[in-house]
Amino acid sequence: MSGITYRLATAGDVQGIIDCALGALWSGDGTSAWDRAMGCVPGHDWASQKRRSLARFEEAYPERCQVAAAGDRLAGFVMWSGNRASRVGEVENLAVHPDFQGQGIARTLMEHAMAALRSEGMRSIKVFTGLDVNHKAARRLYEGLGFRDVWHTITYGMALDSD
Ligand SMILES: CC(C)(COP(=O)(O)OP(=O)(O)OC[C@H]1O[C@@H](n2cnc3c(N)ncnc32)[C@H](O)[C@@H]1OP(=O)(O)O)[C@@H](O)C(=O)NCCC(=O)NCCS
Repeated sequence: MSGITYRLATAGDVQGIIDCALGALWSGDGTSAWDRAMGCVPGHDWASQKRRSLARFEEAYPERCQVAAAGDRLAGFVMWSGNRASRVGEVENLAVHPDFQGQGIARTLMEHAMAALRSEGMRSIKVFTGLDVNHKAARRLYEGLGFRDVWHTITYGMALDSD
């Protein structure tokens, strides 16, 4: 899409990254269902924890975070890491703000992360995602890029009796 530029993240991008991630994921009901099931205390709900983990990653590894910029707004981002010993790379986070979805931005971001991991000597790449409806686009994207379904997990939860 014209008007979108791709570059590495800088310190000033943290809020834009958070806005993309929460805008993309908060629109679904999956995360609030998680909070209800786990009875999270204020400040430690899914969104609060996501904000903190995104900010920590971006501040620690800006060279492992590519952003898509639309003027002075961020349209999307991808974060990745690579394990030098196992030579397995991982896509840690990916989101495109709903205002910019469906224009090929995630595909371009993923291709950048895959090329970066390849140039770092990684032999394979993994990405964890949900089986819920909110992650349907992500699953199609990964499969379209050549990723194969290799492992399923399930998260069980229960409330513990309070005193
Ligand atoms: C998944 C996500 C990043 C895709 O971003 P996007 O920029 O809209 O995706 P693209 O335009 O690059 O589309 C790439 C592919 O994704 C899939 N896709 C995109 N939107 C889709 C939709 N609404 N429904 C189904 N598949 C979709 C398609 O396979 C598409 O390829 P195609 O155009 O050849 O059919 C975006 O929907 C998002 O941020 N979702 C919420 C966050 C999330 O799930 N992140 C990944 C967590 S692991």
